[in-house]
Amino acid sequence: MLVYFVTDEPTKLPAIRAMLEPQHAVVPWLLGGDGTRIRSHGVLMVDVDLRQMPRVDKLRFVLQDLAAIPEKLFVVHNLSRSMVAQAHALGATSIISRPKEAVLKVAEIEAAEAAAADSAAAPALDLDEGVAAFASMFSNVRLGKPVKVADAKRATSKIISRVGKEGLSTWLDEVRRYHEGTFQHCLLVTGIAVGFALDIGFSGADVSRLGLAATLHDIGKARIPLAILDKPGRLDPEEEQIIRRHPEIGYDLLKGVAGITPEILDGVRHHHEYLDGSGYPDGLKAAEISDLVRLLTISDIFAALIESRPYRPPMPRPDAYQILCGMEGKLEGSLVKAFRNVALGPK
Ligand SMILES: [Fe+2]
Ligand SMILES: [Fe+2]
Repeated sequence: MLVYFVTDEPTKLPAIRAMLEPQHAVVPWLLGGDGTRIRSHGVLMVDVDLRQMPRVDKLRFVLQDLAAIPEKLFVVHNLSRSMVAQAHALGATSIISRPKEAVLKVAEIEAAEAAAADSAAAPALDLDEGVAAFASMFSNVRLGKPVKVADAKRATSKIISRVGKEGLSTWLDEVRRYHEGTFQHCLLVTGIAVGFALDIGFSGADVSRLGLAATLHDIGKARIPLAILDKPGRLDPEEEQIIRRHPEIGYDLLKGVAGITPEILDGVRHHHEYLDGSGYPDGLKAAEISDLVRLLTISDIFAALIESRPYRPPMPRPDAYQILCGMEGKLEGSLVKAFRNVALGPK
């Protein structure tokens, strides 16, 4: 079995070699190394300090080259909950707490492959179930597989029950600890949209509908290259064009999928439209933009503002709310007003 060992500490390599060779062939893969070698078989073993953002950024690029390798084994020392979530967000299929456990894990993977069983073991651990379902949905789409609506629905219902029980602030604090950009963003938008719907007294069915639209709203970004998606700083015009395709990509991914209603498709395609017609992709005007989309757009902008990104600290919630208030003509004023409680949180 080929084991690609991705590490930020080359000194770890001899121990890994001693453990796995000669039964398996260990191929070292250093962060920041040559990024042109695409690999599609074997096992990927990642032992990188996920608390260090610059290393996580480098790791993302490495993982793009290795995206086609189905088994991704991450070493998360002490199984720290937030780092386990981070590993999942980066595409981990198995998590071990010490490199030593790789011996057994690789043997298991080899046996499973030999038996032609293609069911990868998904570790349950104590990861929030909503986040896990979300991670699985997103990484599947990133790998070119279709959207699993069951995952999206499961993620949404778990987020609804957490926001309902513990309040939005707890959810936001937890999610902002997961560093992976788009992943964090979608979890935030869903929590905020659900918090908004609960706050204005939506029925259970309407909360679920808006929640599912929020869960899926940026699914098209799973098909945008990470180099553009997570680029720190400004995008050039060409990159901007590419990223602006995500609503249509998401729409195409979901069109015709069982369980996806027209209003979900509407939310996915139109969450960047503005009432004054200045949005994209269809330049819709006020009357053409549904209520669900208006709520989703407000939640989306607010989430984008309060996200924590490697290159900038999160904006305080009151400042983000002020920006929404300044978007008169683009967002519906009465909804922005109704959003105040949600935006500013409990006193
Ligand atoms: Fe979007
Ligand atoms: Fe978004």
